[in-house]
Amino acid sequence: MTNQIEKSNMKLNYIYKSIVVVFLSIAFVACEEEFFPAPPKAKSAKETTTLEATFVVTPPITLSDVYWKTADYLKVPVIDLNKNLLYPNGYLNMTGTYNGLTSFNAGANPNVIMKAAYDNAKMYLYVEWTDNDLSPASFASILNGPVDPLKSDTAGGWTTQENSDKFSIAFDINNATSSAGAFSNVGCAASCHSNSMQTLSGSVDLWNWDLATSEALGYAHDWSVNSATGIQNDAGNIMAILNKSTSDARTAPIYEWNGVEQIITRPDGKSTTLDPGYYLYNKTAFIGDIVEGKTIYHNAVYGCNHCHGDFGEGNGPFGDGTAFASVGFASKYSRAAIKSFSSSELHTGKPYWSQVPVNKQDDLIAFIKGMGSLPGFTLTAPDGSAADVWSVSNVTRSRLNTIAPHTQYKVILVRNLVTSNADDAQFNVATSKTYPFGIALMDADSKNHIGSLKQILTFK
Ligand code: HEC
Repeated sequence: MTNQIEKSNMKLNYIYKSIVVVFLSIAFVACEEEFFPAPPKAKSAKETTTLEATFVVTPPITLSDVYWKTADYLKVPVIDLNKNLLYPNGYLNMTGTYNGLTSFNAGANPNVIMKAAYDNAKMYLYVEWTDNDLSPASFASILNGPVDPLKSDTAGGWTTQENSDKFSIAFDINNATSSAGAFSNVGCAASCHSNSMQTLSGSVDLWNWDLATSEALGYAHDWSVNSATGIQNDAGNIMAILNKSTSDARTAPIYEWNGVEQIITRPDGKSTTLDPGYYLYNKTAFIGDIVEGKTIYHNAVYGCNHCHGDFGEGNGPFGDGTAFASVGFASKYSRAAIKSFSSSELHTGKPYWSQVPVNKQDDLIAFIKGMGSLPGFTLTAPDGSAADVWSVSNVTRSRLNTIAPHTQYKVILVRNLVTSNADDAQFNVATSKTYPFGIALMDADSKNHIGSLKQILTFK
């Protein structure tokens, strides 16, 4: 009996509670509608007609920052800007964008998207585009490298080969003009003068994100284009210097990797280890006589060609040695590492190496490194006005893999809105909200590019 009553009480209790809950919910919904503002709808990204920079409180300096997920975006349509240009004698396989749009990303639309933000001090420009192969080598020195199908130059001896992927953005500094018109009307075309970068009057600020020469250190190059000298580095320490004694493409490289891990701290405070196959930061003199080295390499008794191939292509008649003649290969190993591996028990060719006269080892290694390529630039941290534009990207730099599929580049460029440098564009958002700009993209090239001459950046 008690049980029965308890049960029905419980039931009643339950019904009563449910009614109260329902009532309260109705009351709350009513209250909410009457007294509270509607909760903010989750923002969704929408396409805009100009590049809109929204004011942010927290700097969005990582690619995973939630801001970029919902930020409005500008789709940038791209056209041919420069095409069918080649480099002088001895510069080979450096024009991956030779036919413009039909060469870039093998002719598939790169789908360029930009987003932007700013705070009281800095602006943040996000850009993504599709480029299905990673081209990290730039102006590499190669000995007896591949010929260039677009050129008739001989590839014998030292040549300068390969070119990196790049993104450039240009802003007006002081009413730049060219024969095409003013920057405010024609954008980037105001910095172009008979196929070279030069203005007729005024100057243009040019930020150049380069996978080989600036991204590794966490920057974009900060250049300006003027009427007197064309492209010029902003004041300060230049971050990439050609690894040759002259600009003649057929001269030998000066430096090689010294074997010390290349750990650097980027301006955003993160540290990176740079792949010595492509980036030269910790360096030592490139030594050895390549002519002598070539003779040793082909020695009838102890030559490495028996297994590593006459041209370093690998798989010689006496055994399947690794290929030396692949870009990035021999620079991954320091000279000391090549010596210690060659003479180790792990090396099938140890009996051959042990017959190489000790005073010829460096000549032989010079020849082997040459077949594999030496990086085209030595890198050093920039400073002054040359260090104004930081970069953050989705590229891993410690062991670059150019064979694994790569699809999209994602890059954030960061700069102070206002700098104290005459060679920079200034973004005084209190005075002006809109700034024309142009962009250029290069796929393994730096002469030919696709892009968009004029877009507008709007500070909201
Ligand atoms: C009898 C065949 C043979 C000869 C001759 C030979 N090697 Fe090798 N080498 C190999 C093989 C096979 C490998 C791959 C590792 C292994 O199994 O030994 C290799 C790997 C190497 C590597 C490491 C490459 C990498 O990608 O890790 C170096 C460096 C090297 N050899 C240097 C030399 C030099 C210098 C000579 C000439 C003095 C030479 N080898 C002659 C068979 C040979």
